[in-house]
Amino acid sequence: MNVGRQAICRVALMVGIAVLAMVAQAAPDAARGEQVYARCLGCHGLASDRVGPRHCGLIGRRAASIAGFDYSKAMKQSGIVWNKKTLDRFLTKPMGAVPGTSMTYDGVPLAGDREDLIAYLEKVNTEAVCKTEGNHKP
Ligand code: HEC
Repeated sequence: MNVGRQAICRVALMVGIAVLAMVAQAAPDAARGEQVYARCLGCHGLASDRVGPRHCGLIGRRAASIAGFDYSKAMKQSGIVWNKKTLDRFLTKPMGAVPGTSMTYDGVPLAGDREDLIAYLEKVNTEAVCKTEGNHKP
């Protein structure tokens, strides 16, 4: 192979990689989000309250609305409704977004991780683990 062809091949390869990277970035990946969710499992469960409140039914519900869970005053007074935007903001820096929250967790720094995580929380809500009576919206 001569040098010219090698250069063309290299450029073609680079373009291919760039396109792949763009495609990979375009759509949030719930399967990847499930891996990111492992960071939350130390305190949260999907269908039951632990150190933190359950996450089934999260999207669309008001902050601090799981009956019987002992929320901080800050979370109760936050006035937040959980959607993609409010979750993204909270998960970037929980203690910055809701000063005084009892969620003493530093946050998910990468935007892509947060996007995948939120896609997972949305998707899992339609799955069996969240469909059982009592696990859905309060
Ligand atoms: C160190 C324990 C801990 C970790 C780790 C943690 N959380 Fe929390 N989380 C809590 C606690 C405690 C609360 C209740 C906060 C309050 O009342 O101020 C909470 C509250 C929340 C809420 C508000 C729920 C509601 O019902 O209003 C969301 C959303 C949330 N966490 C998401 C996450 C996600 C996503 C992760 C993983 C990236 C995570 N948390 C990691 C302890 C934790």
